[in-house]
Amino acid sequence: MHILHVVGARPNFMKAAPVIEALRKRSSFRQTVVHTGQHYDKNMSGVFFEQLGIPAPDVNLEVGSGSHAHQTAEIMSRFEPVVLEKRPDIVLVYGDVNSTVAAALVCSKLLVRVGHVEAGLRSGDRTMPEEINRLVTDQLADVLFTPSEDGDANLLREGVSSEKIFRVGNAMIDTLVRLLPVAMQCKKNGLPDRYALVTLHRPSNVDDSEMLKNILQSLLEVNAQLSVVFPVHPRTRQRIAEFGINTANLHLLEPKPYIDFLALQARAAVVITDSGGIQEETTYLRVPCLTIRQNTERPVTADVGTNVLVGQDMRKLRTELSKILEGKGKQGTVPPLWDGRAGERIADVLERFVA
Ligand code: UD1
Repeated sequence: MHILHVVGARPNFMKAAPVIEALRKRSSFRQTVVHTGQHYDKNMSGVFFEQLGIPAPDVNLEVGSGSHAHQTAEIMSRFEPVVLEKRPDIVLVYGDVNSTVAAALVCSKLLVRVGHVEAGLRSGDRTMPEEINRLVTDQLADVLFTPSEDGDANLLREGVSSEKIFRVGNAMIDTLVRLLPVAMQCKKNGLPDRYALVTLHRPSNVDDSEMLKNILQSLLEVNAQLSVVFPVHPRTRQRIAEFGINTANLHLLEPKPYIDFLALQARAAVVITDSGGIQEETTYLRVPCLTIRQNTERPVTADVGTNVLVGQDMRKLRTELSKILEGKGKQGTVPPLWDGRAGERIADVLERFVA
């Protein structure tokens, strides 16, 4: 069976890696990797391929940045001829980025089957571009791989047939399980013993100048108590410059490669973020996580994991941070099937049900 994987943005790479590896070990599969080029900087893309051991893409569509409509349309028109030429039996798409929905749309119209890895997640917030991508992709997909029980429930509620849904666990955690021992060999490189690790890139937090100023001001206050270590996403760096915000007293870093960032997470006293995946990684690592969002498509991280949603309420951020520093943070447990074997389960499903 010929499987074509579509990846495009940083959070796709760690989800695709274990699936590609599990399929590589089975002789019944042939694989093609297409990179859309949504993320193109070395430290947002190339270094992930190297560290995660993903084979170099067979095709790079080199779409680059743009508005959502432009980027999505560009991926679609460049991807269509690739599908027509390669004629895969099934196309696997990952997560919720623009590359995910664009590829799913192309395949549906060409009557090529689509499998969605990380299906069924819902924040319930349609102002979030990723929520639109999730809803559309899941309506189009023929095989839906969910990471947790809430994913199945959301899909059933939206009318997806139970026969298409396979709960396989969390593919991103496969990569974490595999590379955590490597990450723990990383040197501390002059980092303080106790620190708060911060990431921010959601448009709702960084595209509004008042909101971004307010969050960065709060981080300066946190910094007085606990050193803030902040690898800055390109979108956020652009906005900081555009809004003329002074960040002189914050320890800003370039975006980190996967293994280096995993080491930073594992050793952090607390992680403050608006990312999706980091809510899950901190739950697995049992590191307290404060999420600067009103909602999450990953409720299991707050229900059983270490995650606390603080919204955009910076007073709540400080209160929750104090609890953590007093040793009263959430301990959490690891959700079922977040065990490093999701890639193998996906390969099993493809072998048994899709062949
Ligand atoms: C995208 C995903 C988001 C994911 C995030 C992880 C969508 C809708 N959003 O958001 O779900 O959490 O990736 O990083 O797909 N840029 C660079 N270099 C790069 C890539 C981007 O400088 O390699 C800059 C560009 O100026 C671009 C901006 O960052 O305009 C945003 O990139 P884009 O892919 O549009 O969205 P993200 O904010 O990264």
